[in-house]
Amino acid sequence: MSVVPRAGRRAAIIQGLGTFLPERVVTNAALSERLDTTDEWIRSRTGIRERRWAESGTATGDLAVEAGARALKAASMSHVDVVVLATTTPDHPCPGTAPAVAARLGLGHAMAFDVSAVCTGFIYALATASSLIVAGLAESALVIGAETYSTILNPEDRSSAVIFGDGAGAAVLTAGDLAEPGALLGFDLGSDGEHADLITVPAGGSRQRAQDVEPDPADFYFTMRGREVFTHAVTRMGQSSKALLDRIGWPTASVDHLVGHQANVRILQSLADFLDIERRRAVVNLDRVGNTSAASIPLALADAVRLGTVQAGDRVLLSAFGGGLTWGSTALIWPEIESC
Ligand code: COA
Repeated sequence: MSVVPRAGRRAAIIQGLGTFLPERVVTNAALSERLDTTDEWIRSRTGIRERRWAESGTATGDLAVEAGARALKAASMSHVDVVVLATTTPDHPCPGTAPAVAARLGLGHAMAFDVSAVCTGFIYALATASSLIVAGLAESALVIGAETYSTILNPEDRSSAVIFGDGAGAAVLTAGDLAEPGALLGFDLGSDGEHADLITVPAGGSRQRAQDVEPDPADFYFTMRGREVFTHAVTRMGQSSKALLDRIGWPTASVDHLVGHQANVRILQSLADFLDIERRRAVVNLDRVGNTSAASIPLALADAVRLGTVQAGDRVLLSAFGGGLTWGSTALIWPEIESC
C-alpha cells in the first residue's frame, strides 16, 4: 500500500533527532569467550564489530526517555500532542511503555501508545504519527524507536546473540507544508503474516499459555531463521523502496542516502545493488551498534547527520524490514536541523 500526501498540503516535518546508547560495549571478542564464534566470523558475515547492551535493571523505557529528551531538546520543544513508541521489547506486556515515557518526559496528558512491528517499528510509528498530523488530530509528535534485545536473546544461540544490540532513537515531528524540507513525502507499508514464523518469541503472549502447558524457558527467547530472513529483507525493502520512489517521482539515481535497516552489511549492499544505488550511498553504523531493531533507522540517520554525511538539501530514503513480516519506506529532503 502506498500513500502520498497531496502536493501543497499539510504534512509532518522532522524537527529534531535524539539518540541514546547504553554505556556497556560488548565486543565480538567478548562474545567469542562464551559462544562458539569468532570475531572474524561475525565481522565477515554481518559487518558488526561491537554492540551496546544495557545493564541489568535498565529497561527499554529508560533508553526511550533519554532519546526522547534529546530529540525534544534538539527541536527546542517541551510539548507534543502524541508520543508513538516503537518497540519489540516493551517494559511490560501491559500497559504500553509510551504513556510512562511521556509522563517521565513531562509531556502531561499527551496521547501515547506503542507500535509493535519489530524492526520496521520506527517507520510504522513515523507513518502513524504523520497520519495523525496530516489528519489534523495532532500538531506535533514524538516518535521513538527503543529496544533492549539483550533481554530476549538466548545466551546460547550464537546466530542471534551476536547480531542484536540495545539503543534508542527519536524524532520530533510538527505540522507544516509538504513543500518544506523535512516533510515526510510519502510511505510504502506492508506485511506478510504467512511468514510470521521466521522471527518469533514463541511464549509470553496468549498463544502459548503458562496455565495450559509448562513453557520451555527457551521459548521466551527471540528466534530467527537467518538465511530466509536475509533474502526477504533484501527483496521486501527493495520492492518497498521502489514503490515509494515511483509514487513520489524520485529516480533511484537521485537518492543521496539510503538509510536501510541495519541488520547486516551484506543486506545493505544487496539492497543498494537491487535498487541500482551506489553502495557508498548506503549509510552504515551497524558495525558499532549491531541490529537495534526499532531503534535502527533513527540511530543510523542521526549518526550520518552527526558525521556530516547527510546534509541539508540531501535526498534521503529510509527503508526497514522486520518480523511479522513487516516492511516500510519513507523519504524526505533533509532539513536544516539539529541532531542531539
Ligand atoms: N559464529 C559462527 N558460526 C555461526 C554463527 C556464529 N555467530 N552463527 C551461525 N553460524 C553458523 C551456522 O551454524 C551455520 O553452520 P552450519 O553450516 O554448520 O550449519 C553457518 O554458520 C552458516 O549459517 P547461516 O545461517 O547460513 O549463515 P549466514 O551466512 O546466513 O549468516 C546471519 C547468518 C544470521 C548473519 C544471516 O543469515 C543474517 O544476517 N540474516 C538476517 C538477519 C536479520 O536481518 N535479522 C533481522 C531482520 S529484521
